Amino acid sequence: MVLSIAALAQDAAPESGFWKDPFADPMFPLYLVIGFVFVTAILVILVALYMLQVLNMFIRKAAEERAEKLGITYAPEPGYWSKFWDWINGFRPQAEEKDILLDHNYDGIRELDNHMPPWWKWLFYATIIWGIGYLIVYHVTDTFPLSEEEYAASVEKAAEQKAKLLAANPPAVIDENALVYEHNEEMIKKGRTIYVTNCASCHMPDGQGSIGPNLVDDYWLHGGSIKDIYAVIKNGVQEKGMIPWGPVLSPEQIRDVSFYIRSIKGNTPPNPKAPQGELYVEEEPVPADTVKAGS
Ligand code: HEC
Repeated sequence: MVLSIAALAQDAAPESGFWKDPFADPMFPLYLVIGFVFVTAILVILVALYMLQVLNMFIRKAAEERAEKLGITYAPEPGYWSKFWDWINGFRPQAEEKDILLDHNYDGIRELDNHMPPWWKWLFYATIIWGIGYLIVYHVTDTFPLSEEEYAASVEKAAEQKAKLLAANPPAVIDENALVYEHNEEMIKKGRTIYVTNCASCHMPDGQGSIGPNLVDDYWLHGGSIKDIYAVIKNGVQEKGMIPWGPVLSPEQIRDVSFYIRSIKGNTPPNPKAPQGELYVEEEPVPADTVKAGS
């Protein structure tokens, strides 16, 4: 019970001070005293029980000795525990067995008409009472939420948290319109892995081209800017045998592989495929005074 209450308290107020830092809580000394009293009480009860046991033993010893002196066999009184045990289980003494013996006789095996043990019946009644209480609290007065409502509430809460998180850091949109090349080693490394697994079969590991065109020269069929590269990878050129990778790779993966292709530009593999398409010259941002000097 204590555990479940603690869990509830934690659930209700995850930021509350006590569970974060119990020692700093102003009520801590009180809890400590209560805990101490509780433990002491349990110890006292245990010691008392032990003393009672010892006392009982002495009494039994004395009774045995007296019986021996009188020359009768000592029959101990049943203890509280065994009396309680018989009572809660509804055991009938063996002497009464003939009263509960049924007439059935199966090859000499007879049946006793033993009733359900009382503890079992009480448990059953308790569940009935519990069930009625449950019905009233959950279905008549609607005091507590049903599982379905609890679920809906937590989904709503999670959606709220998600919306808050998304509002705090909106995800960057990656597509061909806004892409700018950056020499990011990590992305290029990931891009290389994607290239080797998916693209090298047609463009060759070094990018010198085979079924697909050369990717390291300055000539491009579909434009050589990073945006063009991204777009052709994403959309493919299906009729020419270049698969659209948009449905296969994520935008991040297409960006990484585009960056990789851009990073290997200018390499000189041993057997390059002849240039195809048009020469693409990188648009360098031209500094303002150079333009003036040239004109
Ligand atoms: C089945 C073979 C094949 C595979 C696999 C393949 N490509 Fe291609 N790729 C081609 C062909 C063929 C072309 C030329 C299309 C054309 O003629 O228009 C091409 C064109 C391209 C172009 C444009 C080149 C230019 O000159 O404009 C790029 C960039 C490219 N591929 C990147 C990739 C990437 C990245 C992958 C892996 C994710 C890939 N390709 C996988 C066959 C392939």
